[in-house]
Amino acid sequence: MEQLQGKVAVVTGAGSGIGQALVRRFAGEQMRVVAADIEAAALAATVDGLAGTSTFIADVANFDDVDALAEHAYETFGATDVLCNNAGVFAGGLIWERPPSDFAWTLGVNLWGILNGIRAFVPRMLAAGTAAHIVNTVSMAGVCTNAFSGPYTVSKFAAQAATECLAHDLSAIGAPIKVSAVVPGAVATRIATSGRNRPETLAALRSDDAQFVEQALADLTATEGAPPEEVATMIVAAIRTEQFLVPTKPSYAKQLRDRCDALVDRELPPMPDFD
Ligand SMILES: NC(=O)c1ccc[n+]([C@@H]2O[C@H](COP(=O)([O-])OP(=O)(O)OC[C@H]3O[C@@H](n4cnc5c(N)ncnc54)[C@H](O)[C@@H]3O)[C@@H](O)[C@H]2O)c1
Repeated sequence: MEQLQGKVAVVTGAGSGIGQALVRRFAGEQMRVVAADIEAAALAATVDGLAGTSTFIADVANFDDVDALAEHAYETFGATDVLCNNAGVFAGGLIWERPPSDFAWTLGVNLWGILNGIRAFVPRMLAAGTAAHIVNTVSMAGVCTNAFSGPYTVSKFAAQAATECLAHDLSAIGAPIKVSAVVPGAVATRIATSGRNRPETLAALRSDDAQFVEQALADLTATEGAPPEEVATMIVAAIRTEQFLVPTKPSYAKQLRDRCDALVDRELPPMPDFD
């Protein structure tokens, strides 16, 4: 989709980080934007002073919320040309120590958020019959495995599989809808404090392993994280050129190759350095 001006984008997880940068970037491209998040104040700050934007509070883990978001987008702007299923949360630690609530939470947001976005928006996009692009924010943790990251990595591998299946299905029926999977490494966002949005029904179990990995993630994203604006620029380029995989660093090509080589050699893939 070369021409973005005047088109309509919907972005989830728009209150912070990559989602916030996407909203601002799309607005800068003179697109109309529906910004959605679970955090009302953060969402309001994202669109402050931006023309052609609308906000919507939605928990992406809840299908009714996402369906209402789609209804809102079509009622407000009459279309959805670009959908960014971006909302995501992190939980990690030693896999045998992590409670079911860690998996329920990460799978709920990182996998079901994407599945709900697909189910709510794709039928409406197909009915419109116009060109569209769906961008799912996955992670390098969706294509490579690492220690201390079981709940997050399991959810992101599933998110990557869902994104590839979506692209295959749309291609199989000849739909004019393209798909991208964004696989960032470290980005300077608030991902390490995702627990701020964790529902009480899925309360965390505090433990040394979880605290260790959260601190490591906080340090990594703060000191070496790419600016979210850079990731937004890569995503806009991928929409324009219909690029499927969007790794945020050239070094990720080697990490992907190393993983595949190890599997072909029947070995455990090495842990990559998500620099
Ligand atoms: N920051 C990184 O290093 C990094 C690396 C790889 C992938 N990612 C992915 O990027 C995406 C964006 O995260 P970020 O890094 O910008 O983090 P962030 O915490 O800064 O932003 C995430 C946003 O998602 C929102 N959110 C959380 N749960 C939600 C829910 N249930 N429904 C709706 N919104 C919800 C939060 O309120 C927040 O505004 C996520 O999918 C994350 O997994 C981030």
